Amino acid sequence: MKKNNSVDPLKIIHWLNVRKSTFDVLNSYLKDKINFVVNKENLDELDAFSLEKIAEFLDVPKKALITDKSVPSYIHHTKSQIEKTKRPINRGGIHFYNYYTLPSPHGYVAPVLIDILCPKNKMPTLNNGHLEPAITVSLGPNDIYARFAKKKNKLTFLKFKINHDKKTDWIVGSSYFEPSYCLHTYSRATNGPGKILSYTTKSNLESLLNSKLNDDSFENFATSLENKKPNRVMLKEDIQNKGYEIQQVAKKTKISVKKINDFINNKTKKSLSIKELEKICSLINSDPYVYIDKNFKEDKIGKYYYDSKDSIKTIRKFKSYTVASIASSSRAQDLSGYFLNVQNKKDKTIIDLMDTNCSHYLVTKGELILNIKENGKIKKVKLKNGDAIWVAAYIKHGFTGSGALIKISDGQNISYLEKIDLMNTYNLNTTLLRGRKDRVNWGYD
Ligand SMILES: [Fe+2]
Repeated sequence: MKKNNSVDPLKIIHWLNVRKSTFDVLNSYLKDKINFVVNKENLDELDAFSLEKIAEFLDVPKKALITDKSVPSYIHHTKSQIEKTKRPINRGGIHFYNYYTLPSPHGYVAPVLIDILCPKNKMPTLNNGHLEPAITVSLGPNDIYARFAKKKNKLTFLKFKINHDKKTDWIVGSSYFEPSYCLHTYSRATNGPGKILSYTTKSNLESLLNSKLNDDSFENFATSLENKKPNRVMLKEDIQNKGYEIQQVAKKTKISVKKINDFINNKTKKSLSIKELEKICSLINSDPYVYIDKNFKEDKIGKYYYDSKDSIKTIRKFKSYTVASIASSSRAQDLSGYFLNVQNKKDKTIIDLMDTNCSHYLVTKGELILNIKENGKIKKVKLKNGDAIWVAAYIKHGFTGSGALIKISDGQNISYLEKIDLMNTYNLNTTLLRGRKDRVNWGYD
């Protein structure tokens, strides 16, 4: 048979292991269906029909067994490439926005640039918000208005200002973090144009809200969390999952029943101490730190606004650069960024950056060179004002030349949820090496 590049042999072996099955069992299922004996070495020769039958046997969708396109180390789009993605959006009966998309790998959520066209004397029409949290930066050249609710007040209608100070203008403008389903819209605040960079990241809850739970499960799940502190409810549920009554937990941990009940039923503002949570979680073999009460920096409508003056206060040296923070929130800890001022000799080779998240960069000033290490070699990519780059997680890179960028990273490559799991993994190094390219079966042929 011909080699079939879309079949991923490792995925078939993985699912055989998951299903606690063997090639013998698989072949006896396939016997009267296909004229071919499958083994570890010939999985990449399967035709579409055989693959379908194997998927049927493994009880997984066919797409779980085919190759994903591998994620590149970086993607560079020039200003003119980005301008070609321009599309107009009408809202409230007027040409409201122009959208432009920045580069990102196949299947990733990508940031957008938006021209703000709604005139200053018109109240901009609100959108309905979205699940995905976002960071938005005002790019200028002029201030704009940002509106967040029907009712207008100091919190819900504000001037989204840019930084007019020549000395620090690499800090382009103000920024804010926007939580899930926060309504938002923009209009001009002057007679001149305004622009924003908006990075709406992928929500970690997407699959949970879609088809992962059936309707009955989802209803009970949502009801259990209704208007309560989720960490406290989840500790209570975890104790029950492990088959313990609160009285038994109290007796074993020497924490009073009332104290535990007050916490898990949200009858007190006081949190259990870390020591107490550690005692409870040691009994039920769980991670105590996820059950600590949380505090988030945000205003009454959930957004966290960061004026460019706030960013200026954070100016600091970082490696070979000067940086200043952009708004972010521990509600979406993978989504964060900074303004980056580069003043490095053009012909130098600098690869001093490597993040655990993937990153988007937008060049806002000057001429720069991206130095990036790929397949053991350093590549140099010329960048101009308005160009954008996506860089994968754990890729060594750096910038030389004279100019500035905005950097916003997120967890689509590796998320903090995966990092928590990595920290809990037994024999991490071995697990990572075996899990990456595992052709070994689970041990019973
Ligand atoms: Fe948005």
